[in-house]
Amino acid sequence: MTKSIDDLKAAFAGESQANRRYLAFAKKAEDEGYLQAAKLFRAAAAAETVHALNHLRALGEVKSTAENIQAAIRGENYEATVMYPDFIADAEKDQDKKALASFRYALAVEKVHEALYTKALEALSKDAPVAEYYVCPICGYTFEGSAPDRCPVCNTPSTRFEKIS
Ligand code: FE2
Ligand code: FE2
Ligand code: FE2
Repeated sequence: MTKSIDDLKAAFAGESQANRRYLAFAKKAEDEGYLQAAKLFRAAAAAETVHALNHLRALGEVKSTAENIQAAIRGENYEATVMYPDFIADAEKDQDKKALASFRYALAVEKVHEALYTKALEALSKDAPVAEYYVCPICGYTFEGSAPDRCPVCNTPSTRFEKIS
C-alpha cells in the first residue's frame, strides 16, 4: 500500500467525522438560537461530504451496486459480530453507562442492516417495486415497509420516525 492510499483513508475518515460533527454542532446551534452559526456548520458539513466522497472514489471503493451491497454486508456483519460485542464488554468493564447504551442501540440496528442488505442483494433488480423505509431518531432502528406503533429497540412512538425519501 502506498503512502497516498493510507493518506486517502485517513482523510476519508477525518472528513466523514467532520461532516457528522458539524451536523451535530448545527443542531445544537439551532437549539440555542444561533441560526447563522447553524447555517455555517451545515454549509461546511456539506463541503466535508464532497471531500469525503472525492477521497472514497479516489480510493476506488465505490464499485457496482452489487459489490457495494456486499461491502455493506461485510461492514455491518463485522460491527454486529465483532466490534460492538467487544465495545460492549469494554463499556461494561468501565461501567460507562452512556457508552453502553449507545453501543447497544447500534448493535441491535447493525443486525437489522445486515439482514436488509442481504435481502436486497438477493432481490437486486432495477424493476422491483421500491419499499418505504423509516428510521427511529433515537436508536436508528431501520424499518422496511410499514412501521410498527413503537420502535422494538427503544420503544419510541412511530410518529417520530423519519421517513426516508
Ligand atoms: Fe474538508
Ligand atoms: Fe449499520
Ligand atoms: Fe428506536
